[in-house]
Amino acid sequence: MPHIASLYFKTAIVILIIGIAMGLQMAISGNHNVIAAHTHANLLGWVTMAIFGGYYALNPSKAESKLAQLQYWVYTAGVVVMVPSLYLLYLGYTAFEPLTAISSLVILLGVLMFAVIVYSREPSPRALPAE
Ligand code: HEM
Ligand code: HEM
Repeated sequence: MPHIASLYFKTAIVILIIGIAMGLQMAISGNHNVIAAHTHANLLGWVTMAIFGGYYALNPSKAESKLAQLQYWVYTAGVVVMVPSLYLLYLGYTAFEPLTAISSLVILLGVLMFAVIVYSREPSPRALPAE
């Protein structure tokens, strides 16, 4: 598996554990206040990251590009900042709203970079380094 695909799954599974912990916290306490943090940890973290990782696993030539490496760091930084700031925002710490907004835009940037990767042409076999 390409390094970036493995990195995506390693990151995604950690965020899923955190997302499930938030779900359990809500279910056990009966207070569903942090629902959006739970939702976005699981969907932006686990589900979307696993899809990105799966795409890179299926397209190993694209996974080697500098843009793919950068895409991982930009998207992951956005999610890693957005989820805790969303959690704190939904606990009532409204000061976290700007950070939530900025990290959302960083996530969007990561998604746009992924779109560029999806639409880019695969490197021709001759352009690939020799085995
Ligand atoms: C053991 C694991 C989990 C527990 C205990 C749990 C618990 C909860 C709870 C208590 C809510 C609030 C329900 C409400 O107030 O309407 C919720 C909402 C939600 N959860 Fe989970 N969850 C778990 C796993 C997941 C996973 C793995 C995903 C996604 C991959 C997920 C996606 C969602 C979504 C999208 C909502 C919002 C649904 C809505 O808008 O009504 N959950 N979860
Ligand atoms: C940076 C990207 C995103 C932003 C800024 C965003 C923003 C929001 C906002 C403001 C809400 C309403 C929350 C509330 O009712 O208090 C929401 C709900 C929701 N979003 Fe997102 N979203 C993003 C990405 C996604 C993605 C990629 C998915 C699915 C793969 C998703 C799934 C959901 C779901 C299921 C809900 C309803 C459950 C809930 O209230 O948390 N979102 N989102």
